[in-house]
Amino acid sequence: MLIRKGAEAEIRLEDWNGRKVVSKVRVRKGYRNTQLDERLRSQRIKTEVKLMTESRKLGISVPIIYDVDLAGNKIVMEFVEGERVKDVLESGYEDKPGLCRRIGEDVGKMHGEGIAHGDLTTSNILQKGDRLYFIDFSLGEKTKEVEVLGVDLHLLREGFFSAHSRIFELFEEVLDGYLASHEKGSEVVQKMNEIGSRGRYT
Ligand SMILES: Nc1ncnc2c1ncn2[C@@H]1O[C@H](COP(=O)(O)OP(=O)(O)OP(=O)(O)O)[C@@H](O)[C@H]1O
Ligand SMILES: [Mg+2]
Repeated sequence: MLIRKGAEAEIRLEDWNGRKVVSKVRVRKGYRNTQLDERLRSQRIKTEVKLMTESRKLGISVPIIYDVDLAGNKIVMEFVEGERVKDVLESGYEDKPGLCRRIGEDVGKMHGEGIAHGDLTTSNILQKGDRLYFIDFSLGEKTKEVEVLGVDLHLLREGFFSAHSRIFELFEEVLDGYLASHEKGSEVVQKMNEIGSRGRYT
């Protein structure tokens, strides 16, 4: 069953050896040169798998990966039967400050080990029980550059502002969590502020 058809990927809920799984297949972009397209697709899949694996080692929850098919541009992973944090933050959920703090703590852990997620939005974080699962690492990278981490955090803030404008003050909780879990976090927060004041996309 197709659950989401994005610009780049199709997400299906499937049965895989008796398990409920999600398959994520990167689709061909017609406007891109075929070879370039192949290269980009397999690169993004490799990045996604690598960064999911590294995040898991840090104690961050990510879906279990069952299969990777580079020729078929496909990842088969655990179906996380939860809710998108984007929806939770717009619902009557009680502990939104605690949830925001935990987002910040996890992002801080990733950044502390040089993992930039690449597409940090509340649609790419799922809540199941008391756990947060991070997904969609395909645009991420391993980096030591404060600038790249600052952009990552800046995009999270921008996305938070547009998706959750009525509770934007809770972004402070995200930052508190971030600073508590990332030793050099204040440098990155400073960079985020600098990027924000430079104006968009400069
Ligand atoms: N493992 C999973 N378990 C449950 N739901 C998932 C899972 N993976 C993806 N989803 C759902 O599908 C949506 C889209 O998935 P994802 O963010 O990976 O793809 P995308 O944004 O289309 O991809 P990309 O940005 O890489 O082109 C998520 O917001 C989530 O609702
Ligand atoms: Mg996504």
